[in-house]
Amino acid sequence: MAQKIQAVKGMNDLLPVEQKDFKLTAAFWQAFEDTVNRWTKRYGYRQIRTPIVEQTGLFVRSIGEETDVVGKEMYTFADNAGKTSLSLRPEGTASCLRAVVEHDLTYNAPQKLWYMGPMFRAEQPQKGRYRQFHQVGIEALGFEGPDIDAEIIAMCADLWAELGISEHLTLEINSLGNREERAAHRAALVAYLTAHENELDEDSKRRLKTNPLRVLDSKNPALQSICNAAPRLLDYLGEASQQHYAGFKALLDGLGIQYVENPRLVRGLDYYNQTVFEWTTDKLGSQATVCGGGRYDGLMEELGGRSTPSIGFAMGIERLLLLVHEYGRLNADVVPDVYVMQQGEGSTLAAMKYARELRAAGYDTAQYSGSQKLKAQIKRADQSGAHFALIVAEGELSDGTVTLKDMRGTHGQVTVPAQDLIQTLQQWKSE
Ligand code: HAM
Repeated sequence: MAQKIQAVKGMNDLLPVEQKDFKLTAAFWQAFEDTVNRWTKRYGYRQIRTPIVEQTGLFVRSIGEETDVVGKEMYTFADNAGKTSLSLRPEGTASCLRAVVEHDLTYNAPQKLWYMGPMFRAEQPQKGRYRQFHQVGIEALGFEGPDIDAEIIAMCADLWAELGISEHLTLEINSLGNREERAAHRAALVAYLTAHENELDEDSKRRLKTNPLRVLDSKNPALQSICNAAPRLLDYLGEASQQHYAGFKALLDGLGIQYVENPRLVRGLDYYNQTVFEWTTDKLGSQATVCGGGRYDGLMEELGGRSTPSIGFAMGIERLLLLVHEYGRLNADVVPDVYVMQQGEGSTLAAMKYARELRAAGYDTAQYSGSQKLKAQIKRADQSGAHFALIVAEGELSDGTVTLKDMRGTHGQVTVPAQDLIQTLQQWKSE
């Protein structure tokens, strides 16, 4: 036998059935997609779809060369006989803004956009962390806030409520201030960390040189006391930044949305300023962040567009759905209403016609395909989970009757004139 070929490590198949170590089915996923379609529409956001491959320079310029995402995790390859460097997108914001600038979408009016799709990061795979993963993201372009900052948080909170997972998510917020405030804080932080350089681990020593703010992100328990005592960015915020942050918090308070202020929340991508936030859970082990985002007021200009204050977030669909699967609710019912079987000469065509009639009347209808005996067909009908079964038998074709069987309820089995089929089903369903 030829050797089997397996999926690439860290990339999942979505199957009609649950897998041992990956519980999400395609139907569950699709039910979530339907929810997202309704949710974004309710908030007046419009969808944008961009390619999954972009020029590498786009991500270097927007996410930042020194970030883990760009520095270590991108799938990059040469195209065009080695002349162009392309990368699989590791996130959606850069592509979204590239498209908005390219097509001048914000020329007439600000834009509220959303997207959904696969992203790629060459991380070490584990539960909740994959190499191909999926995000739903929104980007609100051309809004100064803080009202929009609060709107997108409320938007998240509504989705968590709809999915029944609100109690498992905590909102953490912080403000990163503006460029000058960050520079002043950075200088103080570098001085402080340099004074403690001997106590830092290798990773933090490297970050001290490249991106000192990220040292505060360290998960190393030995560094927690140093990090806790480090200069806080919040203390370096000027009047305008403080007002923005206070306005944001006042709106959250007014909306009754609870949050925790985390002055060490810095996010892993370079484009952020002012408001940043993450929704975290203690139910997914170390992959605790389900959704993250913030303002990136300078990014559009850096990508060649006009200065456009903006904010957005993205949630990891796998992480979110693992949480929903275990603790929340999402109706992923894919069982057919009716399962159609056939028996004997000439019954296949008649069964196909009845099945189409049922579908046209709004019943999800699966039809048996093949030539097994009725007993085997009934077994299939049972496996399908269908509520009702229709048996189209050769002997009944001439007198224009069909047999209906209630597979789950108390109506038993009846033979009715074919023209009464839909009516009988309607009656059974309503009882
Ligand atoms: P991010 O924090 O890099 O932000 O990713 C957002 C979410 O994607 C994470 O909170 C996590 O749930 C999920 N995620 C990230 N990496 C993986 C992975 N390897 N496996 C599974 N899930 C993962 C961004 O991507 C920004 N573009 C968000 C944003 C939009 N900010 C402003 N607008």
